[in-house]
Parts: sequence; structure tokens; C-alpha cells
Amino acid sequence: MNNKMKLEILSKSENESFARVVVSAFATQLDPTIEEITDIKTAVSEAVTNSIIHGYNKDDEIIHILCEIIDNEIIVEVIDYGMGIENIEQAREPLYTSKPHLERSGMGFTVMESFMDSVTINSVPGVETKVVMKKSIKSIKSY
Ligand SMILES: Nc1ncnc2c1ncn2[C@@H]1O[C@H](COP(=O)(O)OP(=O)(O)O)[C@@H](O)[C@H]1O
Ligand SMILES: [Mg+2]
Repeated sequence: MNNKMKLEILSKSENESFARVVVSAFATQLDPTIEEITDIKTAVSEAVTNSIIHGYNKDDEIIHILCEIIDNEIIVEVIDYGMGIENIEQAREPLYTSKPHLERSGMGFTVMESFMDSVTINSVPGVETKVVMKKSIKSIKSY
């Protein structure tokens, strides 16, 4: 199967749940299990929340979410045009957060990595930050 969609949202906290519902609805074409859908929702939530809180830290900026299905794999890209990540290796470390005062857990990237097959981070500070997550859907139709 092959399909694509692109979503543009504003960086408002209420749009985080909207984004994860849209991506999971798109993913249902692959006939995922409930668990696989939950994994995708959780990962998308973390990435979009990061764009809202860390990328922009203000409302009404643009976040793009690109989804592509190639065979049994879903690829989700979350892109913002905010402040960016200077040290990607450090950002990926479990428990690292640049905003401890907001009671952030620093586990966002760790969660994305554990629920998806792969997570790639690309960032040009002040220009663009792109998180690409991939997951193969293994479920087989039971009818
Ligand atoms: N879209 C982004 N733009 C800028 N910085 C980011 C972005 N996503 C993540 N970061 C940086 O990476 C760090 C780690 O992210 P994460 O693991 O989700 O932890 P948390 O969000 O709890 O801080 C953040 O504290 C932030 O400094
Ligand atoms: Mg986070």
C-alpha cells in the first residue's frame, strides 16, 4: 500500500490531541492493533508537544506533520521552524530536559524511540527541526 497526507496545525496545546487523532486515523489503513495505534499516538504526542513547548513556546506558529505509508510501514515527520536543537545527542539522552522548571520529564525522545522502530532528528537552529519516526505495522488481517 502507498499513501500520503500532510497536516498543518498551529502551535496551540489543544492541537496536540488533534494531531495524534488525525495521524492515528490515517494509520488505521494498515489495520494496526490497538497497541500499535497507542504507540503511534504516544510518539506523535511527544513530538508535537516538543515543537509547541521547545520549538516555539508561543501560540500560532506553524507545525507540519507529514505521514506516508509505504507497504506496511508508516513514516511520520513532525516539523517546526522554531529555535531548534543545538546538541541533538544531549537532547536524546534519557532524563535530559532544557526546561526542568516546567517539570518536564526529559523522556520524550526516549518514549518516541521505545514506541517506534526508528527516530531521526534533524535540526538547523533557528531554521527547522524535523523528527522522523518510522514504524512497521505487523498485524495480519484475521478474516
Ligand atoms: N522541536 C524542538 N525544538 C527545540 N528543542 C527541542 C525540540 N524537541 C526537543 N527539544 C529539546 O530536547 C530536549 C529533550 O526533549 P524530550 O526528551 O522530549 O524532553 P522534555 O520535552 O521533557 O524536555 C528538550 O528539553 C529540548 O531542549
Ligand atoms: Mg518532550
